[in-house]
Amino acid sequence: MSVTAENEWKQLSDEFIKIEKNHEEYLKKMREIRKSQDSCLKAVKHQYYMLGQLRDDITKAETSPNASPSERIKSAELRQQALEMRARLYEMQNELPVQNNGFYLNLILGSNLNVSLLTGAERYKYKQEYENFKWKVTILVLSVLLLSYVLPFRVIDSIGNFIMVWYYCTLTIRESILRINGSKIKGWWVLHHYLSCVLCGIHLTWKDGPCYQEFRPQFIMFVAYIGLVQLMQGQYQSGCLRRLHALGQGHQMDITVEGFQSWMFKGLTFLLPFLMLGYIFQLYNAYTMFLLSQRCTGQWQVFALAILFAVIGVGNIWTTTLVILKKLREGTKSDQITRKYRAKNDQKSE
Ligand code: COA
Repeated sequence: MSVTAENEWKQLSDEFIKIEKNHEEYLKKMREIRKSQDSCLKAVKHQYYMLGQLRDDITKAETSPNASPSERIKSAELRQQALEMRARLYEMQNELPVQNNGFYLNLILGSNLNVSLLTGAERYKYKQEYENFKWKVTILVLSVLLLSYVLPFRVIDSIGNFIMVWYYCTLTIRESILRINGSKIKGWWVLHHYLSCVLCGIHLTWKDGPCYQEFRPQFIMFVAYIGLVQLMQGQYQSGCLRRLHALGQGHQMDITVEGFQSWMFKGLTFLLPFLMLGYIFQLYNAYTMFLLSQRCTGQWQVFALAILFAVIGVGNIWTTTLVILKKLREGTKSDQITRKYRAKNDQKSE
């Protein structure tokens, strides 16, 4: 063996010993972190339990006929402090691994895969990626739609429908992961995506024929309209996300909590008429399909689609109205805003 090779080997061996030491150190720290996570999780769980007991005691003290006014004031103070502690515990819990992914994710991903995102920066990035994903797939769907408008073949319609089934299915998985990681996405929007997935699936199985062809132009117009609204909605959601992140980081980006609220209401005022028109379109689709179902016997898809469009339209109107009314009534609490994507303990958040 040449001297050069021998020297190289020696250098490599020395380097390898260092790597081995670092790796051992890393494994040791990992074990320590796991232990620390377990003990924190246990402590948080126990604290929640104790807070529950305290709440019962406070209620008892408050409702007691013998309680003096000063005791009632004390109880109210305690209740407020307990609420603040609960909010802090919730924040801590968000920075600890989730123990159960829930039925849907367990079913799809298996129960031993941990999908917790432990820092504000990780959660922000994941949410950003989710918004990017929606944006890109919506553009893809709109492109296929344009193609199927120019080339009216059933196979191109099917490709578009298939992409939508896959898209909504993926959204439900991503949204379940987001919810596990503290996102406040309303249950209806997740359910809406399950229903949309079923709707596109049923539309995919609908046999070509006079009935299908009759509804086809309306469906293409509807998907194009919803696609464009989704792009607008994506702009709004990404804008909210960036601003919330900047607020949590304390960036001097000319943004304040009041600035965020005013931007949000402007965005909502712009978006709302387009959303409502989309919901009316959904109800109109339900009506058209219902009329069609009287004539197109033997095609169960027609009636099923009528029901689905009606449920989605009514659910959307109901939920969006509640969301807007709640925002008008309460606004968004400033501490919730600044905490949302805060990367308090992160080394650096991009
Ligand atoms: N899909 C996915 N996530 C949604 C959502 C939706 N439709 N609506 C709200 N969210 C998310 C927000 O991003 C936020 O997430 P975070 O906690 O991870 O930051 C959380 O839910 C809470 O949002 P909220 O404050 O209630 O509402 P908002 O100001 O973000 O959005 C609307 C309000 C009305 C604009 C929004 O709910 C919306 O666009 N709804 C219409 C959706 C729709 O009808 N789509 C089909 C036709 S295009």
